[in-house]
Amino acid sequence: MPKPPLSMKPTGWFQVAWSAEIAVGAVRRMTYFGREMVAWRAQSGEPAVMDAYCEHLGAHLGHGGHVEGDRIVCPFHGWEWNRDGRNVCIPYEKRPNPLRRIRSYPVVERNEAIYIWHDTDGREPFFDVPDVFTGFDDGSSAQDYYPGFPHSTLYRERLQLHPQYVLENGVDFAHFKYVHRTPFIPKFTRQEFEKPISYVDFTIAFDEIPGMSAEDMKSGVQAINGGLGVAVTKSWGMIDNRTVSAVTPVDDETCDVRFTVFIGRQSGDESAEPPQTAKTFSQAIIDQFLADVHIWSHQRYSDPPALVRAEYEGFIALRKWATQFYPEEITA
Ligand code: FES
Ligand SMILES: [Fe+2]
Repeated sequence: MPKPPLSMKPTGWFQVAWSAEIAVGAVRRMTYFGREMVAWRAQSGEPAVMDAYCEHLGAHLGHGGHVEGDRIVCPFHGWEWNRDGRNVCIPYEKRPNPLRRIRSYPVVERNEAIYIWHDTDGREPFFDVPDVFTGFDDGSSAQDYYPGFPHSTLYRERLQLHPQYVLENGVDFAHFKYVHRTPFIPKFTRQEFEKPISYVDFTIAFDEIPGMSAEDMKSGVQAINGGLGVAVTKSWGMIDNRTVSAVTPVDDETCDVRFTVFIGRQSGDESAEPPQTAKTFSQAIIDQFLADVHIWSHQRYSDPPALVRAEYEGFIALRKWATQFYPEEITA
């Protein structure tokens, strides 16, 4: 599979874990954007993500580093670093080192997930991670949904695909019929690609939903794309569900893909886990997403693509919008 000709170092928010994977006091190793990183959670509950190597003599904090209070302690000589990557204590010296700093990443915890801000030029975040529960301004909140993790999630590591492929799905009306086996081609009612947060709404019906008659096939999806890394959706006219798809570059060739489904709570049900019917439905949504993943992970990016007239507007708008997230020098 050819490496995409698009930069694998885009600017934006990217999921690096689900919240529950980083317990208080935990230190977890990860590789994103070609860098070794650690994610850890302070005793206060706040998560941190930073480069993995200690600025003293280069020990890897993910191999024996531990959390004390709001600091991560290096296993080699006990130097302590805070969430901003600043050295706050050298145990055998009066003062910490004010000059050396471990590169740390802005972190947002939302949608049961941990996101980091990545920008090759070191700019501060200039847009926010869309909230899958409150982002649609319909009065919903997380309490209205069963948790998604771990039972309603999909995780695929190091696939040869690009975040842009996933978003192109949102304007690709024809694929729904062939990949998702929908009875008709969806109708787009909104395609707004300007600012870093973009919007797509369409009506769609899935014929495999049990018990649905042709009359009931009035359903649709609204999507909010927070840059290239995170897209959240809300459905209407079907079993109430919300999804988060997140694609995070690992290196110049591969990405990790995470997908989370939240099913609307049955009224009065406070349980932490969804009932079996909800799990079955979320699995059906995950299977649909997997059908896309299968295409994406083998596809070659086509540029310029051979589009029919009706495809032109959506694809061109999306591809133009995507360029704002790529660094000036695109690494081919
Ligand atoms: S290498 Fe980390 S304290 Fe020495
Ligand atoms: Fe799709």
